[in-house]
Amino acid sequence: MAISYQHENHLFTIQTEHSTYQMKVDDFGFLLHLYYGAKITGNMDYLLTYYDRGFSGNPYDTGGEKTYSLDVLPQEYPAMGVGDYRNSALVIRNSDESEYCDLRYVSHKIENGKYALKGLPAVYASDEESQTLEILLEDSVSKVQVKLLYGVLEKEDIITRSAIISNCGNERIIVEKAASSCLDFVTGDYDLLSFWGRHTMERNLQRREIEHGNYVIGSRRGASSHQYNPAVIIADKNTTESYGKCYGLVFVYSGNFMFEAEKDQYDQTRLIMGLHNDLFNYPLEKGETLVIPETILGFSERGFTGLSMKFHRCIREHICRGKYQYQTRPVLINSWEAAYFDFTGETICNLAKNAADLGIDMVVMDDGWFGKRDDDNSGLGDWQVNEQKLGCTLGEMIEKINGFGVKFGIWIEPEMVSEDSDLYREHSDWALRIPSRKPVLARNQLVLDFSREDVRNYIFDSICGVLDQGNIEYIKWDMNRSLSDIYSMENSQGKVMYDYVLGVYDFLEKLLQRYPDILIEGCSGGGGRFDAGMMYYTPQIWCSDNTDALDRIRIQYGTSFLYPISAIASHVSAVPNHQTGRSASLHTRGIVAMEGIFGYELNPEKLTNEEREEIKEQIIQYKKNAELIQKGNYYRLSNPCKDPYVAWAFITENGDRALLNVVILENHSNMAVNYVKLKGLKPDALYEDAGSGKKYYGSALMEAGIPMPLEKKEYPAYQIELILVGNEPDDCLRRGFD
Ligand code: GLA
Repeated sequence: MAISYQHENHLFTIQTEHSTYQMKVDDFGFLLHLYYGAKITGNMDYLLTYYDRGFSGNPYDTGGEKTYSLDVLPQEYPAMGVGDYRNSALVIRNSDESEYCDLRYVSHKIENGKYALKGLPAVYASDEESQTLEILLEDSVSKVQVKLLYGVLEKEDIITRSAIISNCGNERIIVEKAASSCLDFVTGDYDLLSFWGRHTMERNLQRREIEHGNYVIGSRRGASSHQYNPAVIIADKNTTESYGKCYGLVFVYSGNFMFEAEKDQYDQTRLIMGLHNDLFNYPLEKGETLVIPETILGFSERGFTGLSMKFHRCIREHICRGKYQYQTRPVLINSWEAAYFDFTGETICNLAKNAADLGIDMVVMDDGWFGKRDDDNSGLGDWQVNEQKLGCTLGEMIEKINGFGVKFGIWIEPEMVSEDSDLYREHSDWALRIPSRKPVLARNQLVLDFSREDVRNYIFDSICGVLDQGNIEYIKWDMNRSLSDIYSMENSQGKVMYDYVLGVYDFLEKLLQRYPDILIEGCSGGGGRFDAGMMYYTPQIWCSDNTDALDRIRIQYGTSFLYPISAIASHVSAVPNHQTGRSASLHTRGIVAMEGIFGYELNPEKLTNEEREEIKEQIIQYKKNAELIQKGNYYRLSNPCKDPYVAWAFITENGDRALLNVVILENHSNMAVNYVKLKGLKPDALYEDAGSGKKYYGSALMEAGIPMPLEKKEYPAYQIELILVGNEPDDCLRRGFD
């Protein structure tokens, strides 16, 4: 049993394979947090200390006990108004306008299996793999109830948290802020690792100390955003890739979020992950509830690599779903960087013909195939195939493509409408906009009010009308602007941001149900909605609109800290690169794109014969290793922002095969040799480099490393397959090891 309750002490203990989480209900009914970290036994309530602290008030029912203050005690779900002046997980505005919620324990339940969340993505697991703890808290005056949910995947070292807020009183309340998790640490100095970015340069790693005060990241853009990813790591100051303690918090949500890290007056640290409180005032009438998206919590004692592996596995196996969850994904060629808007049906068929010749599985027709859409200023919302542009029907084109032995995929952007579109001319009230004002334009498009079911239904029907025209096996679901002008003609304004995201999820769920065999790839100007929420529907996401290999190294490095490689879509594009103007070799571009779900984004007609041959080889090499890349254990072996080279490896679970990848980032005359050290091999086993035939012990590869060649080239890259050829040290003698 991962979850236990000790009645005499009102103590809840969650044990996973390598971590413990503990909390208790105290004499006043408050749910106090006691511990989260490496596995321990015993009652940790001795950690609670009680002193008379100036200016820290005391709940009335403590009888004026000056040593008891919620301002100091660690809590599971602190609410605004009751004398805790730190950040709150919950802010409720009551019908009398007071911002106050005094939550006390009512009851709890422990069950096998993992809870699900209505309308929201969440970690799933079988009854054998998981347990759920439900703790009910209530404000006895307002009758606001909060159900705290804890899902435990013992073997995975994963604990999830969510909260369901119910208005059980008679009066309307407004939820002004709501989080799904709060972690209070009574002691410790921590670093925060967060992932910031911008369009075409997402998820740069930043490490900073959590100091006194409040550090906040989040999104008000309606999507999780390019700017700050809804996932963070908290680490001891000396934690590295391989050593030290760290915690991960991954928000399973694709809209506005807020993460707060606060070090208080007594050096205690509070972390809160939840919905952003700006543009959010969620009214709950009598009997209504609000479900807060969950946070996945993970803990590792073995550095960031250990933490990454736990999250990779959790997201890969307990968030991603469907036919393609484990299936090797098709290698695709996308028309975007090959032709942008300038294509006909013949262009797409030519891509497919080339694909067949090169060994590529699928051709994807990107933006530009519908309505009046020859640039990005018009047409969104008019989901009718432009047969004039294609020169044939979609069905005919797909048949031709399939005839070459190539699959077909298509791009859509269902949430958007162009001002210049028939849809907008007919239904301008379907877009998010304030009636008395001119809307903010971005890429000359507006956002449809997906909080409205009628709007979603219309778009759903028109998209299905396209998908039903032929054998479509893949969809790229894009979203190319941030939300603004938050105003709905039908919905309550404070609900729009949240209901919009649930509308997107609802749409995606319906699409998956109707087309279970279609692979959906997420996208938002590349990686603007790269989050665990989307991964529940789209097992892979276009990682960035930046396809430059050197920039991608950094983007994929940051992404890999919490998201699995199986979710990262990565393509080889033409040089000079369209985003940076840089020219890395085809070999280097190939190796970098193999740190993800592989594909191409270029016009094959412009390739030389030599390049075509190289691409054929790349695809053979990728397909040979696709399963290892998608499911193997992933190791970061250097930091590309600091080290002169970047290296990463994929290693099978049993350590019998490894794929080492290296790109030399710095090139100087007469420079020092880079020795790349592996991780995760069997120390006593003998490995053979499949390319050179050289043999090394696992221990040697991990402790001393392999010297990389010095070459007079820009960004040379190496991919080395290491195959276990002997398990015992003696094997090498028998085999004549030299
Ligand atoms: C976004 C995507 C690109 C491409 C364009 C099409 O920017 O990230 O890959 O699909 O839209 O407009």
